[in-house]
Amino acid sequence: MKIAVYGASGFTGGLTAHELRRRGLAPVVVGRDEERLRRVAAEVDADEVRVAGVEDVNALAAAFKGCDVVVNCAGPFTLWGEPVVRAAIAAGAHYVDTAGEQHYVHHILTTFREESGITIVPAMADDGGPGDLIARLTAERLAATPADLLIADLRRLGAASRGTARSMAAVATLDPLEFSDGDWRPVKAGAPSTIAVPGEQGEVTVGSFALPGVAMAPRHIKAGRVRSALREEVVELFLSLSAGVAESVPEIPDAEQRASDRWLMLAQATDEQGRQAQGWVTGLDPYRLTAVIAVEGARRLAEGGAPSGARTPAEAFDPTGFLNFLEPFGVTWQVK
Ligand SMILES: NC(=O)c1ccc[n+]([C@@H]2O[C@H](COP(=O)([O-])OP(=O)(O)OC[C@H]3O[C@@H](n4cnc5c(N)ncnc54)[C@H](OP(=O)(O)O)[C@@H]3O)[C@@H](O)[C@H]2O)c1
Repeated sequence: MKIAVYGASGFTGGLTAHELRRRGLAPVVVGRDEERLRRVAAEVDADEVRVAGVEDVNALAAAFKGCDVVVNCAGPFTLWGEPVVRAAIAAGAHYVDTAGEQHYVHHILTTFREESGITIVPAMADDGGPGDLIARLTAERLAATPADLLIADLRRLGAASRGTARSMAAVATLDPLEFSDGDWRPVKAGAPSTIAVPGEQGEVTVGSFALPGVAMAPRHIKAGRVRSALREEVVELFLSLSAGVAESVPEIPDAEQRASDRWLMLAQATDEQGRQAQGWVTGLDPYRLTAVIAVEGARRLAEGGAPSGARTPAEAFDPTGFLNFLEPFGVTWQVK
């Protein structure tokens, strides 16, 4: 099984290359900067180093030749993601990425839905992956069609990489999408509501934000309305990020803080009569978990059996099986 990591010289790409090595899968490290790639290649005893930038899809496709799957960690995906998808298709390799950018994920799932022969699964990170899987299980638990499905990322402010800050700055000016009456529509970011958070007293205020769940869930869950939200203070921070501010964020977040940061994805499905099902999935160390999720997604695609075309995590993988796989990494989840 040959798995390429594009953007292996970056923080998440490096963690992903290490995770592949831990799983006994020698990575092929790919990116634009040979010197930075050689450093990570030496750390993980990579199979090969291949150099190609996003501006030349043919060169990128040549760099992915012979690989079963490409794991793309080069963000902002809004800026650089699509050529990597096109190159993976040209090379006949399956594709996963670590994007958290809603409009990019929506674009990829729409544009490449009918591709044949390979599977493309964007957003295999700690929000998009578990968020889509738990949304599916929560909607299934409700006996009726959800009139409203909320997918909320309820982590508190924590350590973020410069790459994350750049990606949030790239989407901060875009209105989040909501799904209603059979289509996706832009809404205003920040519109507040309150929600009870598992393990916390009282309710917390959340605001709309462009999370990948809205781009994914309506493709496999019949629901009247699908929306996404973050804690109010996290929305405020992301909306305040400019490209200049993003450059002042450290490239690699503090290791101790990162290891103790908790992420929590919650799905709440409500039917016309007000009956509710709620599911949540939580864990620590979001960047490490992102690497675990992306690598396991890539490994499952390489094994075969996933439907072809651009698919959401819940369409490509068995939701219960995937969430159970994450439990030994400290992930817990529940649907009620
Ligand atoms: N949604 C989530 O939960 C989640 C979790 C983790 C990560 N992510 C996303 O993953 C992405 C990476 O984050 P990170 O912290 O790893 O960022 P990073 O450390 O800045 O790494 C970015 C990588 O992309 C490469 N790159 C950037 N611009 C490029 C271009 N024009 N052409 C080719 N390669 C380019 C960089 O190559 P050089 O080394 O040559 O600069 C580097 O390898 C971000 O979009 C982040 O939001 C999302």
